Amino acid sequence: MNNTPLRTLVQGIPKTELHLHIEGSFEPELMFEIAKRNNITLAYDSIESLKKAYTFNNLQEFLDIYYTGAQVLLHEQDFYDLTWAYLTTVHSENVVHVEVFFDPQTHTDRGVPFKTVITGIYNALEKAKSEYGITYKLIMSYLRHLSEEAAFKTLEESQPYKAWIDGVGLDSSEQGNPPSKFKNVFEASAKEGYKLVAHAGEEGPADYIWEALDVLNVVRIDHGNRCLSDDALVERLVKEQIPLTLCPTSNVALKVIDKMEEHPVAQMLDKGILATIHSDDPAYFGGYMNENYYQTASALNLSKEQIMQLAINGFKASWLTEDEKEAHITKVKAYFASID
Ligand code: ADE
Ligand code: ZN
Repeated sequence: MNNTPLRTLVQGIPKTELHLHIEGSFEPELMFEIAKRNNITLAYDSIESLKKAYTFNNLQEFLDIYYTGAQVLLHEQDFYDLTWAYLTTVHSENVVHVEVFFDPQTHTDRGVPFKTVITGIYNALEKAKSEYGITYKLIMSYLRHLSEEAAFKTLEESQPYKAWIDGVGLDSSEQGNPPSKFKNVFEASAKEGYKLVAHAGEEGPADYIWEALDVLNVVRIDHGNRCLSDDALVERLVKEQIPLTLCPTSNVALKVIDKMEEHPVAQMLDKGILATIHSDDPAYFGGYMNENYYQTASALNLSKEQIMQLAINGFKASWLTEDEKEAHITKVKAYFASID
């Protein structure tokens, strides 16, 4: 590309993470540590054998392991440690703003109170704000393989913590669970003042992206890879500048694409889509933010301008105020102007 090695260039970019499941940042080492102190025996006898299980043929194979791993999280301290570990890692990667998903039902269905989960996560986010200067938003995700009624229960449980939660999302098994299944609970969530996002078009069809937009009224689409099969949808995404939070290493790990060289992000940028890059579940897919930028830029031979556009798009797509966005974007541009 230029004189600055790609890894060095990526490290220096001020970045924002908008698509991160906190349970997906659960590193095997921490999982074993927390399992031990909670007197839980994992199904794997070592960190190495657990890591060996991290090969997936599709989203569901991953989700089965991901939900099993989350079962060792029992106490507020566990959620705190999980979140703090993530924030410490991304701070070292020059991530300056995060919008983090958590899956309350994965825990409340096991008898862990909503309060325990959110308090641990919230305290770590607050600490990162004061110690690292990382700003944040918190997004509560409904599990789409469960019923809308169950999502309504979660919405109700979130009420005492409304001031800590910025939005709601929709994740888990996509195929067969269309966005429209959650029409009413998204409407009710919006009435409570939550912003709305949804995973769509990861494994599911472009129709699910239309539904997320038209039936759920989301402001951003998580993944959205499949939009390219529908020209009218692309036109809409471009016209309304609806962000797509893409997760390249996730897409390779879950076989949404065969190899990184086939990732659609460059095509999306060419078409004027507000595409952004994130890590999804970094502990399972082999890479945090920098690795996602690096692998994508390297495989697709992205230009410095395209990489800068991705970083700028991240801030544009965030829920920061317009002034905050502008301040970050100015820093991104200054950084790119400073390197050769
Ligand atoms: N939950 C965690 N990661 C996910 C993904 N990539 N898709 C859907 N649900 C998820
Ligand atoms: Zn995701």
